[in-house]
Amino acid sequence: MTRSVDEITGSRRMRRNRRFDWSRRLTRENLVTVDDLIWPIFLIEGENVTEPVGSMPGVERMSVDLAVKAARKAADLGIPALAPFPNIPIAKRDETGAAILNPDGIYCEFIRRAKMEVPEIGLITDVALDPFTSHGHDGILRDGVIVNDETVEHVARAAVIQAQAGSDIISPSEMMDGRIGAIRDALDAAGFQDVAIMSYATKFASAFYGPYREAVSTGGLLKGDKKTYYLDPANTDEAMRECELDIEEGADMLMVKPGMPYLDIVHRVKQTFAMPTFAYQVSGEYSLIMAGVEKGFLDHDRAMMESMLAFKRAGCDGVLTYFAPKVAELLASGWKY
Ligand code: PBG
Repeated sequence: MTRSVDEITGSRRMRRNRRFDWSRRLTRENLVTVDDLIWPIFLIEGENVTEPVGSMPGVERMSVDLAVKAARKAADLGIPALAPFPNIPIAKRDETGAAILNPDGIYCEFIRRAKMEVPEIGLITDVALDPFTSHGHDGILRDGVIVNDETVEHVARAAVIQAQAGSDIISPSEMMDGRIGAIRDALDAAGFQDVAIMSYATKFASAFYGPYREAVSTGGLLKGDKKTYYLDPANTDEAMRECELDIEEGADMLMVKPGMPYLDIVHRVKQTFAMPTFAYQVSGEYSLIMAGVEKGFLDHDRAMMESMLAFKRAGCDGVLTYFAPKVAELLASGWKY
């Protein structure tokens, strides 16, 4: 004997609230706003030049002058912050990534100029060594090992140099032990008590970083992998322990990276620590969606916005995403979910 739907549901009908646009709006739990966006951009040397990143359709590296213009555009759209990454000539990279300490390189030049010309936008800068090393690793490489303590000293010095240039938030992505405490001490000793730290607290050894490595030209240089310092994608408890230590050491904000394949981590981090929590929708996630769009399999705007909502639902306060200006423009044009 089969039951009728009325017999199965009784008076419970989930579809009532979904009937109208107004009732869907009224019952909607999460929203994406322009205030949720951090835009990662890529810098190159030169004047008035751009270079497309082949594996990231719609993303281009920009010379500092154009990047400052992009910062202006982002601020006008209401985007709160930028996360710049440099692509310096291979000839300027070495074993220890010494170029990260150059206050006259494009990285610090961008920080200074953006702070001067677009003071209302926040700058979140990375102190990992990978765009500056000849081997593409995030730290100093000695006899096949990424040496922790020496790298931490280097990274802490880089943090002070970036703070001197005008960085608002130092965001270390190299996963060395003790880096948050060392950066906090170095910033405080140099008088930068107000410069914050957004820790890449849980950064996983992921396949989704491939297109970024093209964007900063580290892919061809990298020997081996980053498994001795990034987290194992299989682990959740280890991610929690990383967050706990980073908070103890002085992190002001936490980040989970990559994003979409790690929303369980986002959720657990937010629930457990109640800290400002961010996710990085990394290059490979961007490229996946864009490849689907280029193939005609996905609708660009809907896929992009649904991915943003997923981050909010998981508990993110904000998202680092290459889609940031597109999301901001779409929201400004009156996007309807
Ligand atoms: C390295 C770094 C990575 C990203 C930013 N900085 C990962 C890596 O190359 O191992 C990835 C960002 C992205 O994929 O969008 N410190």
